[in-house]
Amino acid sequence: MDDSKRWDVIHQKTHHELKGPSIYARERENLFPRGSLIVDLGGGTGEDAIYFLQKDHSVVLLDISDFALKIAQDKAKANNLSERLAIRKVDFGLHQLPIKDDSVDIAYSRISLHYFESEHTIKIFQDIYKMLKTGGKAFLTFKSPEDVKEMEYLKNVAVEFEQNVYIENGQLRSRFSKEQLENFLKQAGINEFRVEAYQEKLANGDDSALLLNEIVFEKR
Ligand SMILES: C[S@@+](CC[C@H](N)C(=O)[O-])C[C@H]1O[C@@H](n2cnc3c(N)ncnc32)[C@H](O)[C@@H]1O
Repeated sequence: MDDSKRWDVIHQKTHHELKGPSIYARERENLFPRGSLIVDLGGGTGEDAIYFLQKDHSVVLLDISDFALKIAQDKAKANNLSERLAIRKVDFGLHQLPIKDDSVDIAYSRISLHYFESEHTIKIFQDIYKMLKTGGKAFLTFKSPEDVKEMEYLKNVAVEFEQNVYIENGQLRSRFSKEQLENFLKQAGINEFRVEAYQEKLANGDDSALLLNEIVFEKR
């Protein structure tokens, strides 16, 4: 099964109508300039994108899954928000990002860029930097290797392909450390950035949280 179909199946299983925006989206949206053009990389079924549209931003949602893109588009239509949403099918592992250089206010990605080895991750950082306008900002989160349970699971079921990159059922999963991400940003030619641990509470009523690393940088 190719990655696009694999993700269709995952979204078909996990999508539900009442899912709302992530806490991360709600916390960071406050920092976006009003009326921003946002590119949501790996935006899935569009819960965060719909939230940004409701806050009067415009969104280009990029994702590999036809199923997820269709759900996002249908939701935007149902909320009369489709005029400010564009969807594009993209495989970040294979394709150039379909976004003009120097055109975007905010590059946003929540836990969608950890499917690639280090070299390709560096290239994605370069492409994100290029698409930003001067003064535009990137907000990107990655799953962290600090999640001991998940790392134990990966070490048991997957093969380590390079440091903190595993192959599980034919799919790459990276769990880069803060230091690795800092190194990659430098190698991408991005000199000013912030990489911090970020715990995202899940909206499931208990105390569980996703252990993430957040990257923030601005184009100078
Ligand atoms: C863990 S989900 C996160 C979705 C969404 N950002 C969220 O916060 O709920 C990862 C997303 O990345 C997309 N994705 C996975 N591999 C991709 C690739 N190679 N190119 C583009 N999108 C990809 C998946 O379809 C999925 O929507």
